[in-house]
Amino acid sequence: MDPLPTDKEIESQFFTLYNLAELGARDKTIKISTKFLAEKMGLSQQTISRRLIELEKKGLIQKTATRDGCLISLTKQGENQLKKVYTVLSTIFEQKRPVSVTIEGTVFSGLGEGAYYVTRPHYRKQFNQKLGFDPYPGTLNIKITNDLDLKMRSELDAYDGIMIEGYTNQDRTYGAGKCFKAIINNREKGAVVIALRTHYDNSVIEVLAPTNLRQRLNLKDGHKVKLEVYLTET
Ligand code: CDP
Repeated sequence: MDPLPTDKEIESQFFTLYNLAELGARDKTIKISTKFLAEKMGLSQQTISRRLIELEKKGLIQKTATRDGCLISLTKQGENQLKKVYTVLSTIFEQKRPVSVTIEGTVFSGLGEGAYYVTRPHYRKQFNQKLGFDPYPGTLNIKITNDLDLKMRSELDAYDGIMIEGYTNQDRTYGAGKCFKAIINNREKGAVVIALRTHYDNSVIEVLAPTNLRQRLNLKDGHKVKLEVYLTET
């Protein structure tokens, strides 16, 4: 029985197949000199000749020597070797950005300001239009207490989310913010709202929902809450 190929052998085998495919040997027979291939791959002619012999022996290419070069084409098996790598690479590159992140934290009471902001007509109208629900007047405050959840929270900074425009009336300015739709405790729909300028740091998340979440989910201060936050619109 043949010994198992070493990583180095597999690597060189792949690289040679890759270069041959690049020259068109996947769907036709190409005519090349070992000198040309050696130059292309930055290797000596002896090395190339040895590699081509190996590939032929393994049934990965078909090779016929002629006076002015080799006629080479990949066999089905050779093509499959390349495809294995292609499959892995395409999963890496075509992977969609994460659609959602899970963030956990504990419920706490704020200063009772949420209700005031959520019910400002300018904001409320945008919540209705952009989130698709009329929010319960207030925000459920969630405090993040560990590094992993903080890391997940920081993912939100990289996404635009659903923009909520600020405004100014005769008295003062109301800041802009962004929202991400979310599912709370696997059940209730809502959204995370992040004021672009806030007195809270990144360890606090405020949640909007069409319902009173404390009632719906029987939440008290100190209870754990899980948020599935959607980074992109689906
Ligand atoms: O700032 P604070 O948490 O004190 O109050 P708020 O934002 O004015 O919200 C009023 C109350 O409703 C708070 O106890 C919130 O936790 C709660 N709430 C809720 O249970 N579900 C919502 N969708 C929004 C707020």
